[in-house]
Amino acid sequence: MKLKGKHLISLKDYTKEEILYLIDLAKEVKNEKKSGSVKKKLKGKNIALIFEKPSTRTRCAFTVACVDEGAHGEYLGKNDIQLGHKESIEDTARVLGRYFDGIQFRGFEQHTVEALAKYSGVPVWNGLTDLFHPTQVLADFLTIKEHVGKLEGVNMVYMGDGRNNMANSLMIGAAKVGINFTIIGPKELWPEEELLQECKKIATSKIEVTENIEDCVKNAQVIYTDVWCSMGEEDKAKERIELLKDYQVTEEFMNMNKSYNTIFMHCLPAVRGNEVTKEVIDGDKSVVFDQAENRMHTIKAVMVATLIEKEEAV
Ligand code: CP
Ligand code: NVA
Repeated sequence: MKLKGKHLISLKDYTKEEILYLIDLAKEVKNEKKSGSVKKKLKGKNIALIFEKPSTRTRCAFTVACVDEGAHGEYLGKNDIQLGHKESIEDTARVLGRYFDGIQFRGFEQHTVEALAKYSGVPVWNGLTDLFHPTQVLADFLTIKEHVGKLEGVNMVYMGDGRNNMANSLMIGAAKVGINFTIIGPKELWPEEELLQECKKIATSKIEVTENIEDCVKNAQVIYTDVWCSMGEEDKAKERIELLKDYQVTEEFMNMNKSYNTIFMHCLPAVRGNEVTKEVIDGDKSVVFDQAENRMHTIKAVMVATLIEKEEAV
């Protein structure tokens, strides 16, 4: 598999084989880390970590992955550089590309991460925008593989805000790898029709959107949810609670599948009492901290795969 030089802007740009390869590579680097045999595959590399929005997992996952593999990660917060304020994104990209071997971007607009990719000349990884969060999906799929044993044919339900970055990215990823994926939520928060149709077109599995909770939850092997107000939408809290209050993940929903021990997933951070009850997220069906850990292994895999040739890695 040849991914050297490739950006990760959205999983739309990745084939099923490439996604599965990254998940397998993540498993490999996870095993290396657990057995104390990390190989410093990124020795001498310099990585820019640009954050317009806050982050715990993504920032720390990139930083630790860099240190583990012998690279230097340079954190660039929104007030540390000129990006978009005193300097155009294009010029910032051209400059950073002269210093760094790869750039992570977390922020608001998808356009920014695309411009960084276009003008920097080095691999750019999307660490979350308003539209997509692809590195999270890789961690989620590794976690599903570990707990359910496979990806293809798995029944996954996403409850809540069906048009945020997580819903969008999970739907694309599910369509690519063959997960049956249903978004359950109010019509007002269904995904953009164009993206939904695009996903249905590429999918070999079922991609659906519905308001009807019970019909789908009773077959779910995975129930996933995310915050009702994403970063930047804090002013919408009141209206979102009103719209989404029937779509809180409760123990009742977690226990509806009588023939499968359904797992609970959340990208975190979570608001207990909004999108999920405390009992569910802190209960024994919850795998949220495995997901959080897997952010690090999958991000490491993405950097290794896109920065060096496979032969250099061994
Ligand atoms: N899941 C996730 O991206 O978490 P952070 O916002 O803490 O990076
Ligand atoms: N939808 C959430 C995901 C956080 C990882 C947000 O954008 O805030």
